Amino acid sequence: MNETVEIKIGEESFKLPVIVGSYQEKGIDISKLRGMSGYVTLDTGFKNTGSTRSTITFIDGEKGILEHRGYRIEQLAENSSFLEIVYLLFHEKLPNTAELAEFEQAIKDHTGLPAQIRDVLNALPDDLHPMGMLSVMLNSLPGFMPESLDSWTDEAIRWKTIYTLLANMPVMAAYIYRRQKGLEYIDPDTSLGYVENFLNMTFGSADAKLVESLDTLLILHADHEQNCSASTARFVGSSHVNLFAAIGAANNALWGPLHGGANQKVLEMLEAIRQDGGDADKYIQKAKDKSDPFRLMGFGHRVYKNYDPRARVIKKYVDQVLDSLNLEDPVVDIAKGLEQAALNDEYFAQRKLFPNVDFYSGIIYRALGIPVNMFTVMFALGRLPGWIAQWKEMRENGEPIGRPRQIYTGETTRDYVELGQR
Ligand code: SDX
Repeated sequence: MNETVEIKIGEESFKLPVIVGSYQEKGIDISKLRGMSGYVTLDTGFKNTGSTRSTITFIDGEKGILEHRGYRIEQLAENSSFLEIVYLLFHEKLPNTAELAEFEQAIKDHTGLPAQIRDVLNALPDDLHPMGMLSVMLNSLPGFMPESLDSWTDEAIRWKTIYTLLANMPVMAAYIYRRQKGLEYIDPDTSLGYVENFLNMTFGSADAKLVESLDTLLILHADHEQNCSASTARFVGSSHVNLFAAIGAANNALWGPLHGGANQKVLEMLEAIRQDGGDADKYIQKAKDKSDPFRLMGFGHRVYKNYDPRARVIKKYVDQVLDSLNLEDPVVDIAKGLEQAALNDEYFAQRKLFPNVDFYSGIIYRALGIPVNMFTVMFALGRLPGWIAQWKEMRENGEPIGRPRQIYTGETTRDYVELGQR
């Protein structure tokens, strides 16, 4: 017997179906509400509203659990490669040896962009943020691959577009690094692995330890259900625009400091605290002071009301990466001190504010030699398969164009007043 809920409006009662998820999470299906009652719902920021049914990623925010297609993120980070996860997100299962080899080859076969993409990048203002540079390049791709305009309707073109994105996001990211440093561009080398090729195009070499560290970081960023940028990919994609444009839009959403831009803000915050004498408590007080716009970047999450499981893995990795690279980073102790102070503070405990994926990731990116203003580009590199998988699912679900309702609270009808009469 399907579960329902009943709402009473005045003298009338309306029954609405309940959707029950794989882990018994429940949602009231309000798709018929307006037709039945004339009422819509209002939930600014969608804090209580599901946008879709999805089989890709599950998060239990209260318990701090993250799974992709049923696999716990801790196990995937420990045992998988990034491209295995990409395959899992797209094909609902982990690949066998032959499937993984074929998938990796398809990405290699689509690696490389016309030289003109460098002219596009070189023409951009020097002060454009790397995320802006990435967005410009993503939105220029249909110019190099006009058939991508049919990526919604044509399956072969859709997969060509998907492989082109996966293969060349690292190329564009590496080019941005080289342009910022005024260095010669390095062509992709498909004899190398995915991450190895990115590091080689960026730095001209690829240390095996760095390859492993970055591969794990990319896994930890791959998808996160209906976050702001993934929802953007779905929403913009629902207009049936080409996939490059939907991904360009998602990339812009990630740029924001409350979302993917937080990893850059965390490092800038830690550096500022270091230069200010390293007094964690002073900044905890600032974060609690409502008259102070300062927020503890890398802390808090819309869904996690527990430790972000990705942050737990990354934190463990920080010491490992620094030791393996024989590096010291003065902000590590500041970060750990800040975390301890916050976790023992009533304000943070009461609001269930814990470190999120961005709190420690920047320390590793910096250890890998990535400049701070490129941290969010690294987040985009990891999140790209999640954006594509969410867009692909929205398309396969046959979802309609996203077009929310509103509650109008402006002026009611009034007559026009001539200019001279105002
Ligand atoms: C990502 O959605 C995803 O899954 C995102 C992500 C992914 O993988 O895609 O996980 C990646 O974006 C992680 C989040 C990165 N952003 C930051 O670290 C920025 C700092 N964090 C916050 O701005 C905030 O916590 C958000 C934006 C992450 C979540 O904000 P919400 O859910 O809208 O919560 P809120 O702003 O309503 O805060 C609730 C309370 C408020 O206090 P009160 O009004 O109740 O007194 O908590 C306070 C907030 O002021 N609060 C903070 C805080 N975060 C929330 N106070 C100080 N420092 C903070 N970081």
